[in-house]
Amino acid sequence: MGPKNYLILTLCGILLGIVQFSSGKGIAADEDLPTVYEYFRNSSSDVVGLVAEADGFKLNGKKIKIMSGAIHYFRVHPDLWRDRLKKLRAMGANAVETYVSWNLHEPKMGVFDFGNGTEQMSPFTDIRRFVQIAQEEDLLVIFRPGPYICTEFEFGGFPSWLQRDPDMKVRTNYQPYLDRVKIFFDALMPQVEDLQFTRGGSIIAIQIENEYGFFNAVSKEYLEFLVNYFDNMGITNETLFFTSDGVGSGDRGTLPGLLKTANFGSDVDWNFGQLQEMQPDKPLMVMEYYPGWFDHWFENHQVRPPGAFVDTLDGILGKWDGNVNLYMFHGGTNFAFLAGANAWHEERHYDPDVTSYDYDATLSEAGDYTVKYHLGKTLFELYQEPQIKRTELIPESVKISYPAVPLQQYLSYDDIIAQVPATSKFQVERPLSMENLPMNDGNGQSFGYIIYRKNADVSNGTNFEAGPVKDFGMLLIDSQLQPTGFQDDRYWINSEETFSLSVGASGNHTVDLLIENHGRVNFGNDNDFLQQKGLVDGVYKLNGNDITDIEIIALEFKSAWVNGLTSWKSVENQTNLQAPLILQTTFEISDEPGDTFLDMSSWHKGIVFINGFNIGRYFRVGPQQTLYVPAPLLKQGTNTVMWICFKRYILTCYFLNLQIASDLQIFIISAFVGNCF
Ligand SMILES: *[C@@H]1O[C@H](CO)[C@@H](O)[C@H](O)[C@H]1NC(C)=O
Ligand SMILES: *[C@@H]1O[C@H](CO)[C@@H](O)[C@H](O)[C@H]1NC(C)=O
Ligand SMILES: *[C@@H]1O[C@H](CO)[C@@H](O)[C@H](O)[C@H]1NC(C)=O
Ligand SMILES: *[C@@H]1O[C@H](CO)[C@@H](O)[C@H](O)[C@H]1NC(C)=O
Ligand SMILES: *[C@@H]1O[C@H](CO)[C@@H](O)[C@H](O)[C@H]1NC(C)=O
Ligand SMILES: *[C@@H]1O[C@H](CO)[C@@H](O)[C@H](O)[C@H]1NC(C)=O
Repeated sequence: MGPKNYLILTLCGILLGIVQFSSGKGIAADEDLPTVYEYFRNSSSDVVGLVAEADGFKLNGKKIKIMSGAIHYFRVHPDLWRDRLKKLRAMGANAVETYVSWNLHEPKMGVFDFGNGTEQMSPFTDIRRFVQIAQEEDLLVIFRPGPYICTEFEFGGFPSWLQRDPDMKVRTNYQPYLDRVKIFFDALMPQVEDLQFTRGGSIIAIQIENEYGFFNAVSKEYLEFLVNYFDNMGITNETLFFTSDGVGSGDRGTLPGLLKTANFGSDVDWNFGQLQEMQPDKPLMVMEYYPGWFDHWFENHQVRPPGAFVDTLDGILGKWDGNVNLYMFHGGTNFAFLAGANAWHEERHYDPDVTSYDYDATLSEAGDYTVKYHLGKTLFELYQEPQIKRTELIPESVKISYPAVPLQQYLSYDDIIAQVPATSKFQVERPLSMENLPMNDGNGQSFGYIIYRKNADVSNGTNFEAGPVKDFGMLLIDSQLQPTGFQDDRYWINSEETFSLSVGASGNHTVDLLIENHGRVNFGNDNDFLQQKGLVDGVYKLNGNDITDIEIIALEFKSAWVNGLTSWKSVENQTNLQAPLILQTTFEISDEPGDTFLDMSSWHKGIVFINGFNIGRYFRVGPQQTLYVPAPLLKQGTNTVMWICFKRYILTCYFLNLQIASDLQIFIISAFVGNCF
């Protein structure tokens, strides 16, 4: 039986369920139903926060079955927050869950951004606004401030500057780490403290750490530190504290007195069975119920069939009378350099995540309703407690296929480096990692690429040895990208390699080791978890001798710098353009802009800027081939697309396709598409 048939059968099962349910119990006419806030705030006395009792959750003394969905404000364009939240509420949910991304809120040590900063992602960091819109859209909020959040996000949400302390031990009782956590929370909590449900806001629960049971070096003192932090704020009696873990972790990641919630994507009987055994007198909640899964580059696109999704959800809400948070309800996008990586894969040990965080979730990356949405909606409405007023399904966004536009201008590798400011160039004795560069007011380089440059006397056959490169290495001689000798001239990832340099005349040549930071690890074993980028205590040799006295060039590709690039050259009459280079083109939009997808399948590897906004990485190995461009990034009039190519090829494709792609076309199901150039 194919997935489609299964789906139809399951749908029938649900419809039957509704009929039986309706005839047995009856659903109140919608106009009589209260909104979430009308129902739970409807008392004259003091409002009481969420409590977990043996017979279920109570909010303000009234029974509530939590039906929540995850939307991360840092993965959705702020102009679209309300759209996504409306769609969550219209599914029948009564809550939204979000993590908090420390790295975006404190891009430099002690410099805080809550929507008032200068980085490209600054408008995404107005967390107060997100929590307020949730309430305006009749949703409660489950708040997961980490500080570690995993979530396939750069360094699990940690700021990279934490690694400037060579002894740093994140997620432990290491005092300098705890000090930084406190400083961050002291800045964060005033943004949301008054938005707790008990104080007239929407936040009903706070998570302590995140899947801490998976961590090798668990420290109960660290968990106590986090709990005490919120205790000291005096919110213990107002907002429920909980932890979230795979049930296999048992009590490793939690403390007595904290509500344990489970994370799983299937086998509800085993998972809830275990949870109930560990915690018999509390409501059952799955804090991360996975409708789908995320993608790594080089691997196949992950899908989870709707039938299995709905069966498990039915078990969670029905058979087990449990509570749920759909992780993700709507995944969104890892814009810019914000995708994380896993570091535990047996063969490569480093698995970077793709730009899309579509997650095969209930709402697609572009916010469209999926089959899972409609199936989930049916179940949510079936099991709601209390029943709440229904809201309209708002229309999906308009998608526009813009005509292909010709490539117009470029900057060569040398043109790019010539425009890197002196504050990003360093003369050093030996290589430094990105994090340890004396830049950004002592915070190092967080993102992008780094060049280790040596002008050296070399001849044909000179040995060059370097690595491990963190994460993708490229070798250039006199600004010409060299074949690295790997299968299909493909990729130099993480390893240490030796090359025999190929040069014509012996003499002074520029040898550049160009390294891409492909995202810091968000999940893995302890050794890999702390990960600096570039060359880190690695080998860096010519003919067996350590290379000294070098130049380092940091290529951060911050929006402000990219927007200010000048001296563009016409591509007209150019037949032999060589990567790395930046290409640029413009196109006109005469009407209201719509969502679109950038088809990057003819290009190898790099990043794309839409009107100066870095929308993320593209990479032909897939599975992702097109990049989501939300309409708010486009404008009526002239729009600019700039993309940076880091793979050697002769330019044969003179146009860029900006085109519509359905969900299925966004992903090519098999990995490793062959080189086309
Ligand atoms: C509170 O509930 C009562 C009874 O259900 C209803 O009559 C009243 O209008 C509600 N008040 C508010 C403020 O929603
Ligand atoms: C942004 O606002 C927060 C809270 O008011 C403040 O602490 C921070 O210094 C501000 N950041 C900037 C860059 O102005
Ligand atoms: C919670 O505790 C604080 C301080 O102990 C107190 O001021 C506040 O009234 C309490 N809130 C509730 C809802 O009991
Ligand atoms: C360097 O030497 C190799 C092997 O002898 C030869 O194949 C190659 O063409 C030489 N490269 C240049 C640029 O002369
Ligand atoms: C090698 O060439 C570079 C770039 O042309 C130049 O800056 C450097 O001084 C030269 N070094 C030597 C030793 O000639
Ligand atoms: C391209 O070549 C044509 C024909 O030789 C010439 O007329 C034109 O000026 C060239 N364009 C540029 C930008 O050099």
